[in-house]
Amino acid sequence: MITSQTKLCCVIGNPVKHSLSPVIHNAGYQKLGLDFVYLVFDVYNLKITLLGLKEINVRGISVTVPFKQKIMKYLDKIDDTAKKIGAVNTVINENRDLIGSNTDWIGAIQALEEKTDLEGKTVALIGAGGAARAIAYGLKYKKAKVYVYNRTKAKADKLRQELDLYDSYSLYNVGIIKQADIIINATPVGMKPNDWESPIPAEFIQKGQIVFDIVYSPFETQFLKSAKIRGAKLVFGYKMLLFQGIEQFKLFTGKQAPVEVMEQALLKEIKLT
Ligand code: ATR
Repeated sequence: MITSQTKLCCVIGNPVKHSLSPVIHNAGYQKLGLDFVYLVFDVYNLKITLLGLKEINVRGISVTVPFKQKIMKYLDKIDDTAKKIGAVNTVINENRDLIGSNTDWIGAIQALEEKTDLEGKTVALIGAGGAARAIAYGLKYKKAKVYVYNRTKAKADKLRQELDLYDSYSLYNVGIIKQADIIINATPVGMKPNDWESPIPAEFIQKGQIVFDIVYSPFETQFLKSAKIRGAKLVFGYKMLLFQGIEQFKLFTGKQAPVEVMEQALLKEIKLT
């Protein structure tokens, strides 16, 4: 029920109307009986939106494409991890200070750790955008050896330098992909409506490798389908979405998240879309 005390949380992005974040967060509020609501705002003018949200005392903001980097200059504080990653996906309002952090890296690491330890593992990370940067940070934190691949090689080189990764390649170079313990797609390639696309040829994937796709729509991407056929172990993109949302839930509400209920709500919605 909405009351005069209801706290507002939201996701801002553009386009964002298909976001699944409201399903995750609102399922949690409902389960715990919290007087919170989570809405979706398609944003055009980021600066004005943030001033308005601050004025009406928003509690928490999830930030998505294309604002994860742009938002940084409008915040009152940014924690060290988000600064190092160079992207903010979470904002909380503490006494009218907007404070930025990043939960994407935690989401990705928790999704992977359901299948494997990361220390010493060789990882082929595809992509060098905001999502890839967060994942690379998390993998480094867990002492994995990260090799980054990107369509634009210069961006891979920059990421390698900034986060001190092992090596960087053009996406059109197989490099160490066949020998990697883990392959991660951190690009939007394969996302609906382009769901026949895959970031790398199926022949690059080997039996026993762990293959993680951050794309969660479709639920099983072409990349994951190929990986399954070739005998790899799969990590689904919805897990990262769920776990980064769970971390946000804790920051927004100060409560432990009812993970099971939030996961079931998300899975039901993903399978309907
Ligand atoms: P996000 O914040 O979601 O990571 P981003 O910062 O725009 O989004 O980064 C998108 C990433 O996906 C980039 O690594 C991009 O490669 P480029 O640096 O060459 O642009 C990659 N990407 C997007 N579309 C791609 C495509 N069709 N093929 C290969 N890589 C693609």
